Amino acid sequence: MRVLVTGGAGFIGSHIVDQLLATGHEPAVLDDLSTGSRANLPAAVPLHVADIRDRDAVAEVFAAVRPDAVCHQAAQMSVSRSVREPHFDAAVNCLGLINVLDAAVARRCGRVVFASSGGVLYGEATVPAPEDTPADPISPYGITKWVGERYLKFYAAEHGMTGVALRYSNVYGPRQNPHGEAGVVAIFLKRLLAGEPATINGDGRYVRDYVYGTDVARANVLALAAPADRTPPGRLTSLNIGTGLGTDVVGIEGMIRRALDARGRTGLPAPLHGPARPGDLRSNLVDPARAGLVLGWRPEVALDEGVARTAAWFAAEAQG
Ligand SMILES: NC(=O)c1ccc[n+]([C@@H]2O[C@H](COP(=O)([O-])OP(=O)(O)OC[C@H]3O[C@@H](n4cnc5c(N)ncnc54)[C@H](O)[C@@H]3O)[C@@H](O)[C@H]2O)c1
Repeated sequence: MRVLVTGGAGFIGSHIVDQLLATGHEPAVLDDLSTGSRANLPAAVPLHVADIRDRDAVAEVFAAVRPDAVCHQAAQMSVSRSVREPHFDAAVNCLGLINVLDAAVARRCGRVVFASSGGVLYGEATVPAPEDTPADPISPYGITKWVGERYLKFYAAEHGMTGVALRYSNVYGPRQNPHGEAGVVAIFLKRLLAGEPATINGDGRYVRDYVYGTDVARANVLALAAPADRTPPGRLTSLNIGTGLGTDVVGIEGMIRRALDARGRTGLPAPLHGPARPGDLRSNLVDPARAGLVLGWRPEVALDEGVARTAAWFAAEAQG
C-alpha cells in the first residue's frame, strides 16, 4: 500500500514511516520541516517539503505520490501557541486538514488516519476515559482536534472514505522534540543530560497516561491496513491509543533519573519545583480497550522499559 504520511519527518510520523517500511508498505512524506527533520527519515523515503496550508502544493504532492491511504500527523501542536495564535493554529490544523482531505478525494484515496488527542478532548479523567466521553476541549489546539474529527467524519460520509481518528494520550520516546512543551520525558532528559535540574510544575502530582512512540506508530499501521468490517467506509472510527495507566510527573522524573543512573550518569541534580501552571489537569487517562477490539492493538512497551530506551537514545544524541 502506498501511504502518504503528513508530518512524517516528525517524532511520531517518522516511527510510522519506519514501521510501514518494515511491514512491506511504501511510505512517502509530506512535511514543511517546521519541527520535523530529514534526519529522522531513511534516505530512500521520498520527502516532499510542503506546507499543508498551501492547497496547490498539497494537491501536487498527492498527484505525484498517488497514495492509497493518508496518515495525517502534520499539525501545529503547541497548546500555548494555540492560545497565543489561534488563527495560525486553525490555519494549520483545520484548513490544512481540509486541504489534505480535498486532495485525498480528488485522487480517490479512500482511507485517512488522523492523529487526534485524548488528552485535550476528555479533560479531567481520574479513571480511563472511553471514546464516548463527551468532548470538552478547553484550548484552541484541543478545539481543532475535535473539529478535525468532525471534518473527517463529514468527508467519510460524503465521499465514502474510511476515516480513523487515533486519540493519543501522552506520547514519548526517541526523536521527540525536547524544545516543545508536550514531551516532559524529552524535556527532563535534555535538562538532566546537560547537568541541569528538571523543573517540576507545582507539586508535580499531575497524573498522565504515557504511551511509547513505537506503540503509537504500530496503532497507525494497523489502522491504515484494517479490514472494512473493522473500520467501515463512510464512517469515522475514533479510538483511544494509550495505556490506561497513570504516572505523575514526580514519578516520571524519578524513573528518568534511575534510567540515567543505570547508564553511569550518577550525581544528577535534584529537581526544582516551579509554580503550578494554571489550567493543568490533575489527571488524564484514556481507556484503550476499543482499539484492542477493533485493531487488535495493545501497548507493548512498559513505561520503565520505554523510559530506559528513550534515555539511551537521548544520551547517545547528547554525545553527538
Ligand atoms: N506527542 C504527543 O504526545 C501527541 C499527543 C496527542 C496528539 N499528537 C498529535 O500527533 C501528531 C504528531 O505529533 P508529534 O509529537 O510527532 O510532533 P512533531 O512536531 O514531531 O511532528 C509534527 C510534524 O508535522 C510537521 N508540520 C507541522 N506543521 C506543518 C505544516 N503546516 N505543513 C506540513 N508539515 C507540518 C512538522 O515539521 C513535524 O515533522 C500531531 O498531529 C499531534 O497533534 C501528539
